Amino acid sequence: MNICHVVGARPNFMKAAPVLRAFRAYAGIEQFVVHTGQHYDFNMSDVFFQQLEIAPPEVNLQVGSGSHAQQTAQIMSRFEPVVLQRKPDLVLVYGDVNSTVATALVCAKLGIALGHVEAGLRSFDRSMPEEINRLLTDQLADLLFTPSEDGNANLAREGVSGEKVFLAGNVMIDTLVRMLPAARQTIAADLPEQFALVTLHRPSNVDDPEWLDELLEALVTIGQQMPVLFPVHPRTRQQLAARGKSLPNSGRIRLMDPLSYLEFLGLQTCATVVVTDSGGIQEETTFLGIPCLTVRENTERPITVTAGTNLLVGRDTQKLCLEVERVRNGSAKRGGVPPLWDGHAAERIAARIAG
Ligand code: UD1
Repeated sequence: MNICHVVGARPNFMKAAPVLRAFRAYAGIEQFVVHTGQHYDFNMSDVFFQQLEIAPPEVNLQVGSGSHAQQTAQIMSRFEPVVLQRKPDLVLVYGDVNSTVATALVCAKLGIALGHVEAGLRSFDRSMPEEINRLLTDQLADLLFTPSEDGNANLAREGVSGEKVFLAGNVMIDTLVRMLPAARQTIAADLPEQFALVTLHRPSNVDDPEWLDELLEALVTIGQQMPVLFPVHPRTRQQLAARGKSLPNSGRIRLMDPLSYLEFLGLQTCATVVVTDSGGIQEETTFLGIPCLTVRENTERPITVTAGTNLLVGRDTQKLCLEVERVRNGSAKRGGVPPLWDGHAAERIAARIAG
């Protein structure tokens, strides 16, 4: 069997890595990686291939950035000839980025079997581009691998046949478990004893100038309680630059370029609190038992709230600052690890496909 794995954006790489590894145990499986080129900076892409020991992609579609329509269309038209030529028996797509839906659509039109890893997650908020990508990809997929039970329930409600759906667990946690010892090696000796680790990149947060201003003010307030470490995503950096905004880059607020997988994971393990709008980080903090304050009104990963350490603070900076204060005072929300977030999800996926 010949399997094509599609990756394109930063959060895809740590999901595909364990699945690629797991298939190596099966003699009859050939596999290759297509990188769409949605993310292309060294620290948004190559460094993840290096650290996660993923072989360089056989094909890079080099689509780069653009509007949603441009990016999706470019990926589709450049991916189609690749699958026509290489004729994979199965294409595996990951997560919810534009690369996921674009290549899913190509497979559906060509009648090529499609598997979706991290299926079934729903924020029920169609203003999020990722929600559109999730809904469409799951309707098109022939095999759907969910990370948690809520994914199965969402798919059943949307009429996806239960025969196609397999509760596999969380592949992102597979990578975390494997890389944790190496991540700990990257922790700098001079880290502050307490600190808030911040990431913000959702269009709903960083593309809205007034709200971004409010968020920056909140970071300054948090900085009075404890140092803030803030690796800045390219989208956020652009938005700040376009509006001539800057944060005081002092001892209290440290802005930095996007970090590698190991460096960021190392920081998460030591953080007093994580403030984020990322999806994957809500999961990683839940696994690590680190308090997470999510600057969003909703989450497609509700299990991190019901079972884990995640709290949605919505668009309320007062609540955000108050919750940081609560964490500092030792009254942080506690949580447990959801079932099947055990480091073996990719093995279950490979066994379901090739076993
Ligand atoms: C994308 C995903 C989002 C994911 C995020 C993780 C979609 C719709 N969004 O959002 O779900 O959480 O990746 O990072 O697929 N840029 C660079 N260098 C890069 C990549 C991007 O400078 O290597 C800049 C470009 O100016 C680009 C902007 O960042 O226009 C946004 O990139 P894009 O891939 O469109 O969306 P993200 O915000 O990264």
